[in-house]
Amino acid sequence: MCGIVGYAGAKQAAPVLLDGLSKLEYRGYDSAGICVHGEMGLQIAKAKGRLQVLIDQTQNGSNMKGVVGIGHTRWATHGAPSDINSHPHLSDSGKIAVVHNGIIENETRLRGWLEGKGVHFHSETDTEVVANLVGYYYAKHADFLGAVRKAMSRIEGSYALGILCADQPDTIVAVKKDSPLIFGFGEGENYIASDVPAILKYTQTVAYLDDGEMVVFNAHDVAFYDQTGEPIEKKKEHISWELSAAERGGFDHFMLKEIYEQPKALRDTVSPRIRDGRVVLEGIDLSAEYLKGLRKIYLVACGSAYYVSVLAKYTIEKACRIPTEAVMASEFRYSDPVIDESNLVIIISQSGETADTLAALREAKRLGAKTLAIVNVVGSAIAKTADQTIYTWAGPEIAVATTKAFTTQLAVVYLLALQMGYALKTISEKDYADHVAALQRLPDAVSEVLSEENIQKIQYYASRYYGHHDAFYIGRNMDSAVCLEGSLKLKEVAYLHSEAYPAGELKHGPISLIEEGTLVVALATVKPLFDKMMANVREVRARGADVLCVTLKEMEQEARNQSNGIICVPTVLPMFQPSLTLIPLQIFAYYVALNRGCDVDKPRNLAKSVTVE
Ligand code: G6P
Repeated sequence: MCGIVGYAGAKQAAPVLLDGLSKLEYRGYDSAGICVHGEMGLQIAKAKGRLQVLIDQTQNGSNMKGVVGIGHTRWATHGAPSDINSHPHLSDSGKIAVVHNGIIENETRLRGWLEGKGVHFHSETDTEVVANLVGYYYAKHADFLGAVRKAMSRIEGSYALGILCADQPDTIVAVKKDSPLIFGFGEGENYIASDVPAILKYTQTVAYLDDGEMVVFNAHDVAFYDQTGEPIEKKKEHISWELSAAERGGFDHFMLKEIYEQPKALRDTVSPRIRDGRVVLEGIDLSAEYLKGLRKIYLVACGSAYYVSVLAKYTIEKACRIPTEAVMASEFRYSDPVIDESNLVIIISQSGETADTLAALREAKRLGAKTLAIVNVVGSAIAKTADQTIYTWAGPEIAVATTKAFTTQLAVVYLLALQMGYALKTISEKDYADHVAALQRLPDAVSEVLSEENIQKIQYYASRYYGHHDAFYIGRNMDSAVCLEGSLKLKEVAYLHSEAYPAGELKHGPISLIEEGTLVVALATVKPLFDKMMANVREVRARGADVLCVTLKEMEQEARNQSNGIICVPTVLPMFQPSLTLIPLQIFAYYVALNRGCDVDKPRNLAKSVTVE
């Protein structure tokens, strides 16, 4: 969590840093701060609250003069959100300023050691330890780089650090381990950032730093070093994302923009991987021989990506007949999993940096499994660590609650299932051809769900049900997995208590909670189980629930007779149906959140990249 930026150039640094931070707020938004190196030395402004507080306080950076600086947006780990705990942190000596994304695990020991040397601390943060450690070694040898290296050798944990030294006005030093850091090459200016959107406006040429690496730069020069301190060359990468991808455009919220971007994101993810009616996953080696030797496939992820995994279990087992299990990454790594080279472990992650997911990936590799990652952020830790990676081409996802990343992760699952099923001959030639063709049409079907008429209908239901205290999402088979994600969306953005249950399980406990005024969102898009779903709908209505039903157009009449509200989606092949069923649930959560006055893009207590365990 937390985002960092750094700038050295000819422009005033503060407005650039604030602009960069505005693109990183999804990483944390309980406080923010910047440090600019100007004529007055290291000048710091920081404030608890949203970035806007800092923008107001600094008059959009105009009252901080200087062309070199670092910035930070925070998701508190050590110490509550407060002005004092906000970054940047200054060493006790006043010589060193630091912004940090990550966690220093041996903070207590280092703090005690430094206090023993007479160093005073002012905040509760682990980051102040870094500032003071660098400050301590700098005071001894007056060697900025040497001091950073010495500090790095003593700190344990994860970090991306941007560091300024009062005696070197032009220079920024940045290092990383287990937290993302990119370097941006500009014309007469250079940047660092936690993620691409922060600097996309200024440059599309970047280098991804690897663990243990250091970059030292000013407006004109840059030098990279490996973990032994040897100079290295870094490959320049071109970012193909359009600038508009990181802007809200005409939309009120990123979440709504990203919901509408789903047809394009799907097309970008699927189209390049289908050639002449065949799925082509370049660089992915899953031969029939290898697949036949698999005992079991594991899908490991967190949050919504875990729910993609739950859907993937249905999809892969059906298409490939290989036992498949979805496991939450935070549980997987401590469960002593029975894994060896006869297992394929598929890791799913939008950010590619979720701490539990990364740790689970490393554990799977250690145990000898082949690992394959489905990732959105290019060059991220998970993408680099996995044996093979398939990128989702969703573009930057800024809203904390995922939408288009989910849809594209699911699309990659479809591609994988079809490719593996075809190799194993568990799918007939005809079925394969039908599915490949239908998958190409899926983006259009999603656009159909996003029709103005549907949106208005969902807006109406949101305005009718937003005051309910509890919601239950029920469905059968793949619908039950879609319920998990729909229900999570409502919790995340609308703060409405919501649970998801397989409909058949309802009467084994949860039905006792159904009473007058409970909202039940019933998904009934699995045709063979439609009648059973309607029986469940009758059961909850008999106990006073308001039922909002999502079903197929062809079932509309019958479902309407049983429900208080109805939303229809087009029928596609059963494998792909979840991609359509989910869309109304995303939109419903969005409008319920608006009705409840919630901050949709930045829900309380959450952050998008969860880099702590
Ligand atoms: C957070 C986000 C979710 C996401 C989860 C896993 O909880 O809010 O949208 O699904 O992390 O993140 P990842 O980046 O690994 O997909």
